[in-house]
Amino acid sequence: MNNSSQPKWSVEEAARIVRESYGTVIPQGMGVAESLYDFDEIGWLPESVKDYALGLGNPIRYADLQVGEIVLDVGSGAGIDTFIAAKKVGPTGRVIGLDMTPEMLERARANQQILGLTNVEFREGKMEQIPLDEASADVAISNGVINLSTKKGQTFRELYRVLKAGGRLVFSDSVVNGQLPRSVLDSEAAFAG
Ligand SMILES: C[S@@+](CC[C@H](N)C(=O)[O-])C[C@H]1O[C@@H](n2cnc3c(N)ncnc32)[C@H](O)[C@@H]1O
Repeated sequence: MNNSSQPKWSVEEAARIVRESYGTVIPQGMGVAESLYDFDEIGWLPESVKDYALGLGNPIRYADLQVGEIVLDVGSGAGIDTFIAAKKVGPTGRVIGLDMTPEMLERARANQQILGLTNVEFREGKMEQIPLDEASADVAISNGVINLSTKKGQTFRELYRVLKAGGRLVFSDSVVNGQLPRSVLDSEAAFAG
């Protein structure tokens, strides 16, 4: 019996569970988006973005994004924070949305086409091995994603590597205060949900 407080999965198994979960996720309706964002932040976005808001907070509200900055959105999903960031940094800035689930990247790129944003790029990759040069981003944001990493130390080292000196990391996530029961730790749905 495994008594540790860690999920029982290998990194590869965890990636499979997360990919399957987010590859098949269904639209959530507007509830999450409306609870996390103000109308002036998301009123301009199509339903195909807002229906797939899966975050846990609103990191951009605390990121103090400036015109011209380069932003990395870790686990960008269908793109809601990527697009809000793109509006804030403007055409002289750039936002890179990183996600490892092909279906999510497909949704995000379709949404980018609808919005006609040219300062956004979606890249396939993992937060544990970020496909970005060192010291290349001013700001990294993430919303409801880092909890899904089974190598959080490596993820934070990667974020430190790709941020410029003095760069900012702002993320919303869930934390566990106490010990989760083994039945929850061993549940794929609880892990990916
Ligand atoms: C809860 S959703 C959040 C999506 C988005 N940030 C939002 O607020 O709507 C988690 C996203 O992180 C992605 N993800 C999970 N683990 C990842 C990893 N190791 N590397 C990159 N992306 C990952 C999933 O594919 C999914 O799109």
